[in-house]
Amino acid sequence: MLCNEEMRKGILSRLKGYRYQHSLGVERAAVWLAGKYGGDPEKAAVAGILHDITKHLSPQEQLNLCEKYGIIPCTVEKSEPKMLHGKTAAAIAREEYGMPEDVCTAIACHTTGRHGMTLLDKILYLADYIEETRDFPGVEKARELAKVDIDRALLYCYDQTLTELVARGKLIHSDTIAAYNDMIRQGVRWRDE
Ligand SMILES: [Fe+2]
Ligand SMILES: [Fe+2]
Repeated sequence: MLCNEEMRKGILSRLKGYRYQHSLGVERAAVWLAGKYGGDPEKAAVAGILHDITKHLSPQEQLNLCEKYGIIPCTVEKSEPKMLHGKTAAAIAREEYGMPEDVCTAIACHTTGRHGMTLLDKILYLADYIEETRDFPGVEKARELAKVDIDRALLYCYDQTLTELVARGKLIHSDTIAAYNDMIRQGVRWRDE
């Protein structure tokens, strides 16, 4: 067993306010997606409750954890250390909770995506986007696509995220571009053509 009831309680006790509800929502959505697309529901669940375990930390605390766990931030991450919360959460999942590498990888790339997303990576990324407490323009479309095709849903999320970042004049992580290109190269499209 990856995570017993006691460990689950311990993890949840570290999550406060909205993040607690959000993480439970991600857990549920991830289990649903795992069931739908042939993923491992146990790994999906634990990735869900751990994915934002370090999100409350300050930029400096993110950088301190990077130092501690040998994570080398890229230039974009140095400018936006909050982006590192996936990687620092993955380090906590590995070091404090002994999670297997595929769970840690999914947690590490849940903020940015990456080239060569595994099924578990996709499940967590999408669950984070569509879980039940999410309420933003476009989330319904993502939920609709998630019911029929995980890759189309994922590409839709990348598309929305990139568009939003550009519109707000924000930095774009190179892994997000790589994730988007990977889907496009594979011939994935989310629009009905
Ligand atoms: Fe996150
Ligand atoms: Fe999240």
